[in-house]
Amino acid sequence: MANRRLAPASEQPASFAFSSENAEWAKGQIEKYPEGRQASAVIPLLWKAQEQNGGWLPRAAIEAVAAELGMPHIRVLEVATFYTMFALEPVGRFWIQLCGTVPCDSCGARELKDYLQARLGAPGHVSADGNFSWLEVECLGACCNAPMAQINQDYYEDLTPELLGALMDDLAAGRPVKIGSQVGRTSSEPKGGADTLTDATLFDGSRVGAWRQRFEDKKAEESSEASGKAEAASSEQRAAADPKPAHPASGRAAEGKSTDAPAQRSAAGETPVKSGDRTDAADPTESAARPGTPAPSAAETVARAEAAGAEAGTQSDLPRDEPPPQPVASGASETVDEPQPAPVKKSKPKRSAPKSEEN
Ligand code: FES
Repeated sequence: MANRRLAPASEQPASFAFSSENAEWAKGQIEKYPEGRQASAVIPLLWKAQEQNGGWLPRAAIEAVAAELGMPHIRVLEVATFYTMFALEPVGRFWIQLCGTVPCDSCGARELKDYLQARLGAPGHVSADGNFSWLEVECLGACCNAPMAQINQDYYEDLTPELLGALMDDLAAGRPVKIGSQVGRTSSEPKGGADTLTDATLFDGSRVGAWRQRFEDKKAEESSEASGKAEAASSEQRAAADPKPAHPASGRAAEGKSTDAPAQRSAAGETPVKSGDRTDAADPTESAARPGTPAPSAAETVARAEAAGAEAGTQSDLPRDEPPPQPVASGASETVDEPQPAPVKKSKPKRSAPKSEEN
């Protein structure tokens, strides 16, 4: 973490005042904010004061900004000491802010720090030739291309100790340098170049033409399918409107008029029930239960009983042409094993009360 202290008194200038040009610029910044909110311009004014003072903020500049904005000195000092974008000590011609936060640290920032320590000495001190000073700072928002460093106003990314050394040599010598990635990648694309969207036809329009042809082919195919379905539906409708009888050989039952239904036979003047069906229809139980049906004769009763017995597996011994046997009258000569009634116990006659002699 950076050491955020003001420079020693020996390095502090006696006073600070904005140049007329910068004073006009500062006035424009303050006017951006409503009355009573001028303190919102503190960062732009501190930044301009640092720029005017050669890249670092002396105490006099902090106090001048506070007076300009009507703020207590301590409040402006709090801002200046919080943000590492404000250098509180003199800096070299090239001020190196090395990111030491985790992503950059994981990608080699520690080696870069060791390199700077070895080449320039402790952070916060200007090199002997006056060209460099450095400071470890927190994330500068270029983590994708870690490790990185900000030198004055520009970012330099994908650094190694060798690349950083060569970069510092070029800066010190006044040679042109490449800003951004030092390994040649564009923006934050993968190292080694882009590995997606590499098909040039995506950008020259030819792929778009291929896609359009594909859509048109698919549309034509769908149209053809829809036409086939419409034709099939039309055939079904015609079949429903004009049905054709199924061919007997097709395996389907031929539908025709039933000619032996009882109702049809009755309508045709025939006997509703055929002679072969009468036996099946002879159900004495049902016929006896039907209201309005005439009572069967004795012979019919015998015949039905025999038929019922035959169906139940029994045979009647009754003669067909004789009436059913009648019970034998009491006192007849024929012996009949009938149950004898239980003897009746004669009860004694109640004696009436003797008549009174007076009567
Ligand atoms: S961690 Fe280094 S730029 Fe974000």
